[in-house]
Amino acid sequence: MKIGCPTEIKPQEFRVGLTPNAAQEAVAHGHSVIVQKGAGLGAGFTDEDYTAAGAALADTAAEVFATAEMIVKVKEPQAPERAMLREGQVLFTYLHLAPDPEQTRDLIASGATCIAYETVTDDRGGLPLLAPMSEVAGRLAPQVGAWSLQKANGGRGVLMGGVPGVGPARVAVIGGGVVGTHAARVAAGMGAEVTVLDRSLSRMRYLDDVFGAVFRTRYASAGNTAELVAEADMVIGAVLIPGAAAPKLVSRAQLSTMKPGAVIVDVAIDQGGCFETSKATTHQDPIYEVDGIVHYCVANMPGAVARTSTLALGNATLPFLLALADKGWRKACADDPHLAAGLNVHAGRITNAPVGEALGLAAITPAAALAA
Ligand SMILES: NC(=O)c1ccc[n+]([C@@H]2O[C@H](COP(=O)([O-])OP(=O)(O)OC[C@H]3O[C@@H](n4cnc5c(N)ncnc54)[C@H](O)[C@@H]3O)[C@@H](O)[C@H]2O)c1
Repeated sequence: MKIGCPTEIKPQEFRVGLTPNAAQEAVAHGHSVIVQKGAGLGAGFTDEDYTAAGAALADTAAEVFATAEMIVKVKEPQAPERAMLREGQVLFTYLHLAPDPEQTRDLIASGATCIAYETVTDDRGGLPLLAPMSEVAGRLAPQVGAWSLQKANGGRGVLMGGVPGVGPARVAVIGGGVVGTHAARVAAGMGAEVTVLDRSLSRMRYLDDVFGAVFRTRYASAGNTAELVAEADMVIGAVLIPGAAAPKLVSRAQLSTMKPGAVIVDVAIDQGGCFETSKATTHQDPIYEVDGIVHYCVANMPGAVARTSTLALGNATLPFLLALADKGWRKACADDPHLAAGLNVHAGRITNAPVGEALGLAAITPAAALAA
């Protein structure tokens, strides 16, 4: 199969869909790979890294789209990219179609087969192509929170680990899923005193079994949440109710109970945020203050560490990418229902029920698309 990887054009996106290692594996499987010149630079991969891996280089995205049978990206295709997609071509990338009618309309019109990273599933009910970005954002959260706690950045001037004779920072993590667990581990590793709040007893049992000596768990009742938020130097928001906006768990009035200069890192901001006072920020201007509390609410945190994020995403996408290339999308999806769950649009039809519902458009099942 001819696999193509264009340079990402969404503002502030430095990741790349295909790493040189992934290109090398695809070539070893007998496929040809074409990468747009400069596509990997933001993640620290040179054109020479790709040619050494056996890939060909293209001067323009148009050349990549015209040549490739499958396009591999990171972000949803932007309007000029959508205009280059064609019937029968496979697109493998993050799509997030539910809130995006314009993109959905263009993908339907293209006739392409569009497989979304975010709806590919696994045996344990997880989302294996979203998890790496949650791991990155979770581990990054205490790092950016620690920076925000510094006095010059508006914070309380508290060091995460304290020093001998001086207590550590107190960190409350609301939501103990992928983001929350990784955030708690790193915050505890920095020496902070960490408590994770969740509403899932089975999740807290798991966390207690595995991390009982590293951080504590508390049930996320409104009372417990209020108490821990008031005591905290840093609160990390990491809740998710799949398919729904994040619940607002901390009100503006509660900010007055917090310590002046305490820090909120709302990782759940991409789902609207779990603090009433959260609003999305960018890496250029990541923090703002409300009622003396520093807020960090960057919606695409993994972009700050584009190289790590690209490598982590590449590890997760590679087996699916190879299956799609080796077998063709139809057999790869027929053989693997988890990959088939990634099918969002095929030949002018929506093939994912929640996307159809969200946009008020008819959808067929992936199975129906495979049978057609
Ligand atoms: N800002 C970013 O760059 C970025 C990057 C990755 C993920 N995220 C977001 O981070 C959030 C968490 O993602 P995840 O992968 O950890 O999800 P996850 O499903 O693994 O974990 C969510 C956890 O929240 C818990 N929860 C749900 N409602 C709760 C409540 N009312 N109180 C306490 N806990 C509650 C669940 O039991 C679960 O353990 C999502 O909104 C995700 O989109 C943001």
